[in-house]
Amino acid sequence: MQSFGKTVLRVLVAGIALVWLVQTGSASSNSAPAGSAAKASSQQAAGEYVGQEKCTSCHEAQTNAYKATPHGRSSLERSPAAAQGCETCHGPGKGHLDDVGDKTKIRRFSTTGMAPREASEICATCHDRGTHALWTGSQHDQRNVGCPTCHSVHSPKGEKQIKATTQPELCSTCHRNVVNKISRFNHMPVREGSLVCSSCHNPHGSPNVKLLKAGTTVNEACTSCHAEKRGPYLWEHAPVANACVTCHEPHGSNNERLLVAKVPFLCQRCHVTSRHPPTVYEGFTLRTSASANRLIGSGCVVCHVQIHGSNAPSGKYFHR
Ligand code: HEC
Ligand code: HEC
Ligand code: HEC
Ligand code: HEC
Ligand code: HEC
Ligand code: HEC
Ligand code: HEC
Ligand code: HEC
Ligand code: HEC
Ligand code: HEC
Repeated sequence: MQSFGKTVLRVLVAGIALVWLVQTGSASSNSAPAGSAAKASSQQAAGEYVGQEKCTSCHEAQTNAYKATPHGRSSLERSPAAAQGCETCHGPGKGHLDDVGDKTKIRRFSTTGMAPREASEICATCHDRGTHALWTGSQHDQRNVGCPTCHSVHSPKGEKQIKATTQPELCSTCHRNVVNKISRFNHMPVREGSLVCSSCHNPHGSPNVKLLKAGTTVNEACTSCHAEKRGPYLWEHAPVANACVTCHEPHGSNNERLLVAKVPFLCQRCHVTSRHPPTVYEGFTLRTSASANRLIGSGCVVCHVQIHGSNAPSGKYFHR
């Protein structure tokens, strides 16, 4: 413990000396134009910490809002990396204090102050495990969507500090076409609140397609909740084993059961019904019987009830 303390002290002394060197050496570059984030942050990295109380005196509103959030309430004490209070994220504040209010002397999380990826890296110094482990290189990271794009540290509106009151509202700023589907007549119970976008997706990155949380394929994602459709069946229906989304639109549809098209049209995309049971079967033929249209109109699944597959020995045609 004793020797560890000494090492820390030595590192600190060396650090302060370095800071002094860098600051005197770069006095002229302090007038660098605002917005050169990289330069600003390298200066800050070399700066000095002044302590949270100093910041509080001038930024009362941000401090109060912050204290009501999980970061402000407890986490910073629990997290050793966060002993620097405000300066954990905003970086050492001495320069900003010496030159009161100079925005370029403090790390700013606005898009003019810092690139999204740079901001994400700061957050990821703590949030880099579990569901966050695959952030780097994820679809959002790649496309310049950073942590502060979706989250607000000081003035969150929704659960988990998101910037909108609900997830669909947040996501719709960029995925309007998808979010619009949950307003359709038939939809996953997202509007009702029993499912949220993150029931199926991990916005922080995933090893699966389409940022899906479960299963390496879309089908595995579906059957993680609808296990009874997983199979294997004695009699498989090829498109079911292949892709649930051939027939279902996961976000919402104007047809019953989230179907991409109404039955029988859905079935007729693949099956030529003019060839439907050409022989009499249990007393009817669809082609010639007077009741044929009615039968078809009432839907193929009236007879082919086990449309996802059958385990009955005689269930080849999914009747049972
Ligand atoms: C003596 C008063 C004072 C102190 C102390 C102070 N600031 Fe500031 N700060 C200001 C002023 C003035 C501005 C400029 C505000 C503006 O232009 O909207 C500013 C701007 C900022 C900004 C940029 C705001 C923006 O609009 O992007 C951040 C971030 C910030 N301060 C954080 C801190 C932190 C962290 C501390 C403690 C290390 C701190 N400040 C200490 C006065 C102060
Ligand atoms: C120094 C470590 C640290 C840094 C840096 C940090 N966080 Fe956190 N954050 C925490 C801890 C610890 C918690 C857990 C608080 C708790 O559970 O009480 C937390 C919680 C959260 C939560 C969850 C809040 C909730 O309601 O459960 C969000 C969202 C979050 N942080 C986003 C961010 C973002 C965005 C950044 C970057 C701007 C960031 N964090 C930077 C340590 C950090
Ligand atoms: C595309 C929007 C989006 C982006 C970008 C994003 N988040 Fe989130 N985050 C969410 C949503 C939605 C939730 C709530 C659902 C959940 O828990 O997964 C959440 C939850 C969290 C939580 C609390 C739950 C948990 O998993 O611990 C933390 C912490 C968090 N985010 C941190 C971050 C950090 C750090 C980054 C950047 C590396 C980031 N987020 C980027 C949307 C986003
Ligand atoms: C966990 C990281 C983190 C901590 C800790 C933190 N901030 Fe911030 N701060 C941010 C982010 C991210 C933004 C961008 C706006 C937002 O997300 O709410 C920001 C924005 C600001 C702004 C600019 C004005 C605004 O609202 O956009 C000021 C001023 C500020 N913070 C001051 C402080 C003060 C004072 C503290 C300490 C009480 C503090 N911050 C602690 C991450 C942090
Ligand atoms: C600021 C804009 C923005 C926000 C907000 C946003 N996204 Fe994205 N999202 C993107 C971009 C850009 C991509 C990459 C698109 C691509 O690769 O075609 C993406 C990709 C995705 C993908 C993967 C698509 C694929 O084809 O692999 C999913 C799933 C996704 N986002 C879900 C969400 C969810 C859920 C939310 C809300 C929690 C959200 N996004 C919020 C911009 C955003
Ligand atoms: C019940 C699970 C589920 C829920 C809830 C869900 N999604 Fe999806 N999402 C999926 C599946 C499965 C796919 C892949 C579809 C495909 O491959 O055709 C997908 C694809 C996407 C894509 C990629 C779009 C594309 O055309 O490739 C985006 C973006 C997306 N979802 C956003 C969202 C948003 C935003 C929400 C919340 C409003 C949400 N999802 C809710 C299951 C879900
Ligand atoms: C996170 C769990 C979850 C995942 C993943 C999921 N669902 Fe669902 N699904 C539900 C819930 C909950 C309902 C509503 C059940 C109810 O209302 O009885 C539902 C309902 C449905 C319905 C019936 C709608 C109706 O009108 O009765 C269909 C069809 C469906 N899901 C297909 C899918 C498909 C296809 C996938 C994959 C793309 C999928 N689900 C992924 C949870 C999930
Ligand atoms: C060939 C088209 C097709 C494919 C592929 C398909 N389904 Fe369906 N699904 C249907 C039809 C048609 C219905 C409506 C059945 C009815 O009304 O009796 C339905 C109904 C459902 C229902 C709600 C009623 C019920 O039986 O519980 C769920 C949940 C469902 N499907 C999940 C899935 C899952 C999960 C997959 C992928 C493993 C999948 N479906 C693949 C055509 C399909
Ligand atoms: C995406 C294309 C596709 C869709 C949509 C589709 N099917 Fe199929 N169906 C197939 C394929 C492929 C087979 C396997 C054919 C084979 O083995 O000869 C099959 C097999 C069948 C069989 C068993 C036939 C046999 O000879 O074994 C029945 C019955 C059937 N489908 C009914 C339906 C019904 C009813 C619908 C609508 C709810 C439907 N299908 C939607 C592609 C589809
Ligand atoms: C009144 C009940 C009934 C209805 C409604 C019905 N079917 Fe059938 N279907 C059967 C029977 C019975 C067989 C088995 C015929 C046999 O044993 O040769 C069959 C066989 C099939 C086969 C496999 C044999 C072949 O001809 O390829 C397909 C595919 C099929 N049906 C598709 C459909 C589609 C698509 C619809 C809706 C347009 C539909 N069925 C409506 C009773 C029905």
